[in-house]
Amino acid sequence: MKIPSEIVQSLNEQLNRELFAQYMYLTIAAYFLERDFEGFGAFFLKQSREEGEHAMRLFKYLMEKGVPFQPLPIEIPPKNYESPLACFQASYEYEQKVTLSYYNLFKKVRDMGEYDVEEFLQWYLREQREEEALMRLWMEKVAMVKGEPTGLLFLDREARKAAEKEESEED
Ligand SMILES: [Fe+2]
Ligand SMILES: [Fe+2]
Repeated sequence: MKIPSEIVQSLNEQLNRELFAQYMYLTIAAYFLERDFEGFGAFFLKQSREEGEHAMRLFKYLMEKGVPFQPLPIEIPPKNYESPLACFQASYEYEQKVTLSYYNLFKKVRDMGEYDVEEFLQWYLREQREEEALMRLWMEKVAMVKGEPTGLLFLDREARKAAEKEESEED
C-alpha cells in the first residue's frame, strides 16, 4: 500500500525533528562537558545517540515503503543556556513538543485509515512517554538542589551511573 504524500511529508518532518533533537542534545552535552560536568555530559550524549536512532527507524520505514526521502534543513539548536536547570527544562519542553507532533500525525493517520503507519507510530508514542518521564525526573532532581555545587556534583555522578547502566543494559 502506498502512503499518501501528505503522510510522507509528515514522516519526513518527524525524521527532521529527531535529527534536531540529536543536535540539540549534542549541544547540551557540550554545555556540560565544557563545565566539567562529565556525568550530565554522558547523559546527554546518550540521549543524542538515541535521537539519531529514532531518526534511523523512520528512515528505514520510508525506504521499506518505497517512498522518497526528503532532506530538510536542520535548525541550529540554542546554545546559551543560563544554568544546568535551563538545559533540562529546554529538553523536557522539546520532548513534549515532539510528543504533540506525533499525536497530530497519529490522529491524521488514523482518520485516513493508514493502519500500517499507525502501527509503526505506536513505538514512538511509547518512546515519547518514557523520554518525557526521564527528562522530567532529572529536571526535578536538578531543580531540588537549587544550583548548589555540592548537590549538582552529586547528581552529575548519579547521571553518569544512570547513563552507564542503561548503556550496559542495551548491550
Ligand atoms: Fe526521539
Ligand atoms: Fe526524545
